[in-house]
Amino acid sequence: MKVLGIETSCDETGIAIYDGNSNQIISEKLFSQAAKHSDYGGVVPELASRDHVKKLIPLLSETIKESGINADALDGIAYTAGPGLRGPLLTGAALAQALGLGWGIPCIGVHHMEAHLLINLLEDPAPSFPFLTLLISGGHCLIIRADDFGEYKVLGQSRDDAVGEAFDKVAKLLDLGYPGGPKIEELATRGDPNAFNFPRPMTKESHLDFSFSGLKTAVLYAFRSEKNPSDTFKADLAASFQEAVADTLFLKSRLAIAQNGLDQLVIGGGVASNKYIRKRLIEGLKGNRIFFPPINRCTDNGAMVAVTGHYRLSKKNISSDIVIRPKWNLSEL
Ligand code: KG4
Ligand code: ZN
Repeated sequence: MKVLGIETSCDETGIAIYDGNSNQIISEKLFSQAAKHSDYGGVVPELASRDHVKKLIPLLSETIKESGINADALDGIAYTAGPGLRGPLLTGAALAQALGLGWGIPCIGVHHMEAHLLINLLEDPAPSFPFLTLLISGGHCLIIRADDFGEYKVLGQSRDDAVGEAFDKVAKLLDLGYPGGPKIEELATRGDPNAFNFPRPMTKESHLDFSFSGLKTAVLYAFRSEKNPSDTFKADLAASFQEAVADTLFLKSRLAIAQNGLDQLVIGGGVASNKYIRKRLIEGLKGNRIFFPPINRCTDNGAMVAVTGHYRLSKKNISSDIVIRPKWNLSEL
């Protein structure tokens, strides 16, 4: 079965074709609107929707052309139905449903966070159920127990800011632009991770929830305490913030592994592309099997939607309306 995937939940327009027989993505295209939103320090939903409308059809044509197959060889279409921004979600949903009708093939809306999780199944070796998942993105910070396809139990989540959101806010404070994650990561390479002893929120407690707003505020106070922040001061701040996040994610992941008696941890979402955090998790959790998607498939992309659509369509879970769900808990799947 060959499935076309369409991702438009935020500021990336992603299109990909997944071939279930070979378990491979046969072509994929991605356009990031980051530069468009940079001046505003965050995603402007209306601008994002308009840009998706502009980019969707050209990217679709290129993806089909590069795949070497004709559109009539496709068996189904998947789009991100949520969670995400309402306007951007609608652009992908409308295109997917129109193509489904025109081509006479089934079309299905998938859950964005399930897609961040399932993209790991393309890896070699791939994780096998049951496993734990740490999803760290701009909108979420979740620890999930995945017992099978579609059987997910949320064990912990952020009570306030998501991890990526904290990266974006600290980057805004340091005037680095949007998206903040890659900019903080780059600046942190020149800083001392032990220069500031920032809090590791909720790591002394035995539950698996997170909280990042206090950490963000601690960074804000440290920044304000310096009248003329030098480049070195800013780099130290970025490195110490990143260290506190890495440490928190490591401690909570280790706790989840111990509490559940599972030794596989699957990591996904935009923050998983941070090489420092990847290294810290791999080193800290030695003895367990840790899975990451390749860097370019950590942030939003069409491939993860196509893979998830393939699994859902093979279960004949087909929808026919233009359905989106801007707020959607993974446990409801
Ligand atoms: O998964 P994603 O592309 O979109 C959502 O589903 O939210 O994640 C985007 C988030 C942004 O907050 C961005 O700053 C963060 O991922 N991010 C990073 C890095 N690359 C992207 N955070 C830390 N380090 C990175 N290298
Ligand atoms: Zn995402």
